[in-house]
Amino acid sequence: MASSDTRDDELTLRLSDISFGADGINLYRFAAVDGQALPDFEPGAHIDVQTCAEHRRQYSLLWPPATPSSYSVAVQVAQQGRGGSRALHYDSVVGQTYRLSMPRNHFRLEHGAKRYVLFAGGIGITPIVSMYRNLKQAGASVELYYWTANRSRTLFFDELCTDERVHLMHDTAPGQPSLRISDVIRDLPMDTQLYCCGPEPMLQEFDAICASRPQESVHRERFSAPESLPADAFQVRLVRSNRTLTVTAGETLLQACLDAGVDVSYSCEEGVCGACEVKVLAGEVDHRDAVLTPAQRKTHGCMMICCSRGVGSSLVLDI
Ligand code: FES
Repeated sequence: MASSDTRDDELTLRLSDISFGADGINLYRFAAVDGQALPDFEPGAHIDVQTCAEHRRQYSLLWPPATPSSYSVAVQVAQQGRGGSRALHYDSVVGQTYRLSMPRNHFRLEHGAKRYVLFAGGIGITPIVSMYRNLKQAGASVELYYWTANRSRTLFFDELCTDERVHLMHDTAPGQPSLRISDVIRDLPMDTQLYCCGPEPMLQEFDAICASRPQESVHRERFSAPESLPADAFQVRLVRSNRTLTVTAGETLLQACLDAGVDVSYSCEEGVCGACEVKVLAGEVDHRDAVLTPAQRKTHGCMMICCSRGVGSSLVLDI
């Protein structure tokens, strides 16, 4: 990747190390070309990596970083995916430079709680293990439940297998009682901080069992936004651009802005990364992203324009 077209809000970093993580999962370290310290980040943060000309993918940053001038991510190869992870697994070479975004964090740890219980499924371990390490280092009361297909697909197995606060579960272990996430959560005190990242069925079970708990104690990160629902056309007033746009049923607000020449940020276009967040000044929003919690949707005054929509002609945005 050429570095000459790096934007102000991007970093050009050198792929400095590739190592084996688990079956189908490699660890990639990107280091500052000049050895300078990189912007700091907290557990739960992610970056976008331009994995090839066509693909920009979001990966959770592993905490703590190996050095202040590097970021590390774990990438699971998706054979049926669109090619972003395959480009890294099959075409990357140590020494290449890549364009990365600055760290963003929509999955933050609430510090100072009495107790934390963390849940991970598969590659969902990447933000969760960072949180676990951070909380353990801080002396917090924390437990980790981690489900994988089998031992060989368990990332950080050597680090976690002897830790008595970590419960490793394999979906296919013969004779092993299959503990479910709902079995764990059911008896936990209501003030326990819960964090979950994993495949959609796991998150749906997490959401269902947590529906009656205080939502400020319930945190999850999804790999993808829920399936898109039928959409209606709507109008939006863009105050700073002094434009009014009509967004048809078949397009997104992001597409309408780009087609109108309005400069907006975006990355995943799937409602999972938070890059396209804009401030809502007025109006009703039909939130469809996987970034904001129900409480944040009510209080944060923002929306993700790659998937969320307005209603009627009420929406006014600070763009
Ligand atoms: S571009 Fe990623 S959430 Fe909208």
